[in-house]
Amino acid sequence: MESEVSRLRAKSEDFALRPVAALESSKINLVSENPVFMVRDLNFYYGAKLALSKISMDILPRKVTALIGPSGCGKSTFLRCLNRMNDTIPGTRVDGQILLERQDIYAEGMDVVTLRQRVGMVFQKPNPFPQSVYDNVAFAPRVLGMVQNKSQLDNIVEKSLRDAVLWDEVKDQLKTNALSFSLGQQQRLCIARVLAVKPDVILFDESTSALDPIATGRIEDLIADLKVNYTIVIVTHNMQQAARVSDSTGLFWLGELVEFSPTDQMFTRPKEELTEAYLTGRMG
Ligand SMILES: Nc1ncnc2c1ncn2[C@@H]1O[C@H](COP(=O)(O)OP(=O)(O)OP(=O)(O)O)[C@@H](O)[C@H]1O
Ligand SMILES: [Mg+2]
Repeated sequence: MESEVSRLRAKSEDFALRPVAALESSKINLVSENPVFMVRDLNFYYGAKLALSKISMDILPRKVTALIGPSGCGKSTFLRCLNRMNDTIPGTRVDGQILLERQDIYAEGMDVVTLRQRVGMVFQKPNPFPQSVYDNVAFAPRVLGMVQNKSQLDNIVEKSLRDAVLWDEVKDQLKTNALSFSLGQQQRLCIARVLAVKPDVILFDESTSALDPIATGRIEDLIADLKVNYTIVIVTHNMQQAARVSDSTGLFWLGELVEFSPTDQMFTRPKEELTEAYLTGRMG
């Protein structure tokens, strides 16, 4: 795999330094705030197959970080490393470090349930439980024992639905089965479900790709609202979306982080030839 990347970067002599170069570019944003996630030299294996190689990246608080790159380059694998969702896949292995607020999430004794509560995930296809709107949002706060009584639970459900900009559409139908709503509404319900457990970080893995343009626009607006309070990482195949909603963008290629730059810079003056080739459709 590395030889293929090397070939694509044919003219670069400083190949071995590139992960560091990617990290350096992230420091452009690091003037005032500590990163939420610090990823250092992360390798990830499915059995013998190396799916992520020497990834180093800082993810900043209350910013949107977009991850782009061709199919199979490791974007979802990387996202799932951030809340250890890959742990459920047999035969996988991680080395390197991921620090969440300076705590190693792969260290022994890390409580994975707490980690996944702090780092929530919204998937490609809306996946509400086949239950009422209310029960979908109330599920995790109930399981995690976050509430003492019904009125506290009602408050969490309402606040989460309001923050997901869904409340006005469902407030009179809280007992209606979630599956009877539109896909865009279901996806906002899934976001409300994540918000209900008060996460720090929300990961979106191509979460608008199943939606029509209007529903997509509403989720993009919502992401812009949410970043006031949350750290957000999105994976997207939609370059315009990355350009519209993100502050920093990372380009993955064959399991490596080719470039990680402020989004405006990435889309106007990419540092790497491969980035330019990908963004202009010449590659990938
Ligand atoms: N459960 C798995 N077992 C083995 N290999 C896997 C598994 N999931 C992903 N892979 C492999 O790891 C590599 C990265 O896959 P990943 O799904 O992270 O890519 P991606 O960038 O998210 O792609 P896409 O844009 O198509 O979603 C691919 O080669 C893929 O085939
Ligand atoms: Mg993917």
